[in-house]
Amino acid sequence: MSFQRTHYCGELRADHVDQEAVVCGWVHRRRDHGGVIFIDLRDRTGLVQIVFNPEFVPKEQFTEAERLRNEYVIRVRGTVRRRLAGMENPNLATGAIEIYATALELLNEARTPPFAIDAHTGVDEALRLKYRYLDLRRFEIQETLALRHRVAKLIRDFLDGQGFWEIETPMLTKSTPEGARDFLVPSRVQPGEFYALPQSPQLFKQLLMMGGIDRYFQIVRCFRDEDLRADRQPEFTQLDIEMAFVDRDDIMALIEELVAFVFQETLGEKIELPLRRLSWAEAMARYGSDKPDTRFGLEIQDVSAVVENTGFRVFSQTVRSGGQVKGINVEGAGLKFARREIDELGELAVSYGSKGMLWLIVTDDGSKGGITKFFNPEELSQLVTAMKAKPGDLLIFVADKPQVCADVLGRLRLYLGEKLELIDHDAWDLLWVVDWPLFEYSEAEGRWEAAHHPFTAPLPEDVELLGKDPARVRAQAYDLVLNGTEVGGGSIRIHRREVQERMFAALGMTKEEAESRFGFFLDAFDYGTPPHGGIAWGFDRLIMLLARKDSLRDVIAFPKTASAQDLMTGAPSPAMDGQLRELHVRLTPEAEKRIEPVQVSSSER
Ligand code: AMO
Repeated sequence: MSFQRTHYCGELRADHVDQEAVVCGWVHRRRDHGGVIFIDLRDRTGLVQIVFNPEFVPKEQFTEAERLRNEYVIRVRGTVRRRLAGMENPNLATGAIEIYATALELLNEARTPPFAIDAHTGVDEALRLKYRYLDLRRFEIQETLALRHRVAKLIRDFLDGQGFWEIETPMLTKSTPEGARDFLVPSRVQPGEFYALPQSPQLFKQLLMMGGIDRYFQIVRCFRDEDLRADRQPEFTQLDIEMAFVDRDDIMALIEELVAFVFQETLGEKIELPLRRLSWAEAMARYGSDKPDTRFGLEIQDVSAVVENTGFRVFSQTVRSGGQVKGINVEGAGLKFARREIDELGELAVSYGSKGMLWLIVTDDGSKGGITKFFNPEELSQLVTAMKAKPGDLLIFVADKPQVCADVLGRLRLYLGEKLELIDHDAWDLLWVVDWPLFEYSEAEGRWEAAHHPFTAPLPEDVELLGKDPARVRAQAYDLVLNGTEVGGGSIRIHRREVQERMFAALGMTKEEAESRFGFFLDAFDYGTPPHGGIAWGFDRLIMLLARKDSLRDVIAFPKTASAQDLMTGAPSPAMDGQLRELHVRLTPEAEKRIEPVQVSSSER
């Protein structure tokens, strides 16, 4: 017996009553009611109830139905019937009907899964990832993957309509620096040499502009060997875009339209255009972050000028030695927070990198607690006025280098926003951060690094500062921020060899190093490079936010853990015997001690 599927489970409605239907899927649940068996059958569209009544199904098949267990794979033919009055399930799209089975085909049995497919909580994520193919059976994940597919299609349709071509770029390539470590692939045929997996297609998309392609995009996998977080994966997907003969505003306008289109078509949300723009300096000053979450207030205030000449030496000395004193008015928290909660904030501040956090509470008759005793009444009243505080407010301060003040208060602000439930989790807060610095100083490396990547163009009026005063060079760069997460970043690119060479030099690269790493690219500048620029979106991040998820692992079919492992396949894993030799690679003794080489049969080699 064999019959073909006529409907998906979740499609069936009262309109189908009295029709014959063939459905396929997994047994989601089975109930036995006095000789009648009820099955909830599941496919990716939903559930439908099947009734096996010995009056309608041949006897052997009814016996088979009695054997069904969760996750068995079956095909069922039957008649769609309206459920008896009072037996409808309003929580189920198919809840008005059920299928009276007339034939059953058992396609496959299943072992008891290590977790229930519809268990929403309490299942260890490592277990889910090990059995990812079972986890993928959950509607919640399937809906997210469907959204991901749909957004990719919308993007392709939109960009096609705007004259963009989707062009693939190599995966086995040379390093494309984006600030992370490269994944390297050893070459068998060129002993001792390595390909790098691309951190992004940055160089190639610029070469496509040099090649006259004019408008390029790609939904593309990128690889970065960096410390992982919930919003970082070692391999992730970008929507990568580049355009020639455009300026910054052209690119931002097009990207805004694309964002609005995606929101409209997926969520039915109207995004007001043009999007707000914040300068990087303003974002850092007010929110202590280059990806500010502006869904709530608690803005950071600079009181350096107010405290510079007070008698409180921690403040005055910090300002006089080039630091800052900045604070947040945690409105109302003076009444709400227990002392323990204030101390917790102080501990957090230290864990975020400051020497401490100072505080006071404003009351009806002056201030109390914390650092109040270090000020005279006039100084206190100036400080309270500068912080726009009123009785009941808690004022917290950090006195440190500007970068530390911004970072620590920026993070405390986010913590407080959550703790005080100030964040509207239904909001879509989209904005641009513009006018970035071209360089940022790396304390760890002791040198200037590119804030974005080394191909970002400086503002024309700042080109002269390259190499002279890196701190003051501004970039023609822009980041797209959604609900406090960086979802995209791009820039106008350098398109003259001489400027690019000066940029490499400013990053501390010798001429020889620049030539050996990027010679091919520098040469290309000599052959007529058009002005160009572009952007890349973190595609996974965008989907994560659209789907209101907290982790990229929820929106990637086969993600990696925080330690960059795939728990299902077991990757990374030791190389097979002989492979390393062929690749001219030898392990260090420490690495050898860690692992056992895998022996394989000669036929597999
Ligand atoms: P950038 O490095 O800012 O720019 O990357 C663009 C966007 O990619 C996302 N992203 C990530 N998502 C998940 N996991 C990661 N490890 C990860 N790293 C980055 C972020 C980020 O905004 N070539 C430039 C773009 C350009 O200049 O056009 C680039 O790659 O959402």
